[in-house]
Amino acid sequence: MQERLKELQTEALERVNTADDLKELNEIRVSYLGKKGPITEVLKGMGKLSAEERPKMGALANEVRDAIAAAIESKQKNLEEAAVAAKLAAEMIDVTLPGRPVKSGNHHPLTRVVEEIEDLFIGMGYTVAEGPEVEKDYYNFEALNLPKDHPARDMQDSFYITEDILLRTQTSPVQARTMEKHQGKGPVKIICPGKVFRRDHDDATHSHQFMQIEGLVVDENIRMSDLKGTLEVFAKAMFGSDREIRLRPSFFPFTEPSVEVDVSCFKCGGKGCNICKKTGWIEILGAGMVHPNVLEMSGFDSKKYSGFAFGMGVERIAMLKYGIDDIRHFYTNDVRFLKQFSIHE
Ligand code: PHE
Repeated sequence: MQERLKELQTEALERVNTADDLKELNEIRVSYLGKKGPITEVLKGMGKLSAEERPKMGALANEVRDAIAAAIESKQKNLEEAAVAAKLAAEMIDVTLPGRPVKSGNHHPLTRVVEEIEDLFIGMGYTVAEGPEVEKDYYNFEALNLPKDHPARDMQDSFYITEDILLRTQTSPVQARTMEKHQGKGPVKIICPGKVFRRDHDDATHSHQFMQIEGLVVDENIRMSDLKGTLEVFAKAMFGSDREIRLRPSFFPFTEPSVEVDVSCFKCGGKGCNICKKTGWIEILGAGMVHPNVLEMSGFDSKKYSGFAFGMGVERIAMLKYGIDDIRHFYTNDVRFLKQFSIHE
């Protein structure tokens, strides 16, 4: 019996030694130390032993059991440590490797120009207003002093949806909408960027859809000099601090007087070059003093209040600023074009 126990011990320890995963080790534990294991089996024969031998054999059996259990435990520790080490080795990252750059998008050049202009005017106390692209004929034309049969409607060929609804041809309807909201009380000081639509044939300088930015100030004692000063600040901020502006008489039904605004050429400084077509001046926007009819129609007392408004094409400003020669570049989204405006590379 003693020999059998020793034999079992040697056999078990050998198996523990060669076990190479936790599952196998567990099987060894169950088969040697379990209730139905060989040690229990051997001890069943104890009844045949003398009273003297019995405790000795019991002690030996316990020794064997302990030895096997201890061997299993230490092997288990080894295997677990090895498993952790293998996992660490497999998952190791080399923090000294150079990182993979994350490709990031970029603002569209038109968005950049809009945001730059917004920032400038917000800094002067304006708020940003918005209006619908699908607009009522009333706001796009009538409230802007263009009654139904007014010949000036011919100036803008429009996309009509119904007789009374169209894609707005300008951002000026937001003037009327904003004044209406103010219910005859000034001051009004807004800037309004947005898409506009005209029935134009697309070419290098025309597009059936483009962007405008509208400005409107209504308060007591607003004068033409306020308009001129404001536009001068704008021109210098966009095109350089030594730019000058000049106002030429023009016509818009919703402003009186109306002007066309030119900026001194930023390329030749006024001497005349291909950009300014040898004139030294570049046209950048339309503007004027808000027509009394427009003030009245939107609920403002034109004896108490006066105002100025201006409107410009964002594409035109961006083309001038960045030297872009074809308006269609803005809409075809060729990444080679767009990447030139990246601030990341
Ligand atoms: N809405 C005019 C246009 O589209 C521009 C403009 C705006 C002129 C405001 C005067 C005042 O041509």
